[in-house]
Amino acid sequence: TKDKNGIDHLVLRNPRGASATVSLHGGQVLSWKTERGQELLFSSTKAFFSPPKPVRGGIPICFPQFGNRGTLEQHGFARNKIWVIDQNPPPLSADSNGKVCIDLLLKPSEDDMKIWPHSFEFRLKVCLTADGRLILISRIRNVNGKPFSFSFAFHTYLSISDISEVRLEGLETLDYLDNLYQKERFTEQGDALTFESEVDRVYLDSSNMVAVLDHEKKRTFVIRKEGLPDVVVWNPWEKKSKSIVDFGDEEYKQMLCVDGAAVENPITLKPGEEWTGRLELSVVPST
Ligand code: BG6
Repeated sequence: TKDKNGIDHLVLRNPRGASATVSLHGGQVLSWKTERGQELLFSSTKAFFSPPKPVRGGIPICFPQFGNRGTLEQHGFARNKIWVIDQNPPPLSADSNGKVCIDLLLKPSEDDMKIWPHSFEFRLKVCLTADGRLILISRIRNVNGKPFSFSFAFHTYLSISDISEVRLEGLETLDYLDNLYQKERFTEQGDALTFESEVDRVYLDSSNMVAVLDHEKKRTFVIRKEGLPDVVVWNPWEKKSKSIVDFGDEEYKQMLCVDGAAVENPITLKPGEEWTGRLELSVVPST
């Protein structure tokens, strides 16, 4: 299918009827639905679908820069570009059967090279498994003559019942950088996170699994990651929401961003080297 600007949307459907939609705009997953048709990712009703603007919702890819930690535009340019389908992706060793997958590719344009003078091949594989898990695998290769460094995030907008009803587990006792306090470093106290105000943090060096428990919807998101040491947690809350043009005033209640990311320590690739980051999202019923 195509959106109103003629950009291709690719729909993955597993045999049980779960689905995921990926746009060539940004290589962005826009929707992930259970076999019963329940949407699991948040998208704003005010989202723009006109590149080079990013789309508010789903899973934008932040590359080669997370946030404003560098000289590039906020979150880098990958989310604003039109990707292509990779017809001939190199195989992945751990890629087993029973999944439906799509392979996308982004290479820098001449204009990209002017602002970030590094040749790369960014391969994104998005899979929906037979049991409805969503898997994203980023492979970034340096095809340059010299090393380069980047930061990265799968900026995952989870759809939730109500921000005051959810609990985030797996980040207890970790250090984090707080974007609301000049990126200063703090240490999380021992409890699961709950939300009562704006949050914009990078939790450092977390374990490979975190979970978001949604009490009201009786479901838990389980987020597994590899190659992505950090976890970004973001909710703009009431005041900030009003300043974001492509975001509804009340929509902060229905979303929580929990990103598998590599932010604190940028990743450096020598010529010919490749980096892999993997994110796996599943949803399980809970009480
Ligand atoms: C978060 C950043 O991950 O993304 C926030 O830490 C930022 O500071 C948010 O506001 C949304 O970014 P954007 O560019 O999509 O509005």
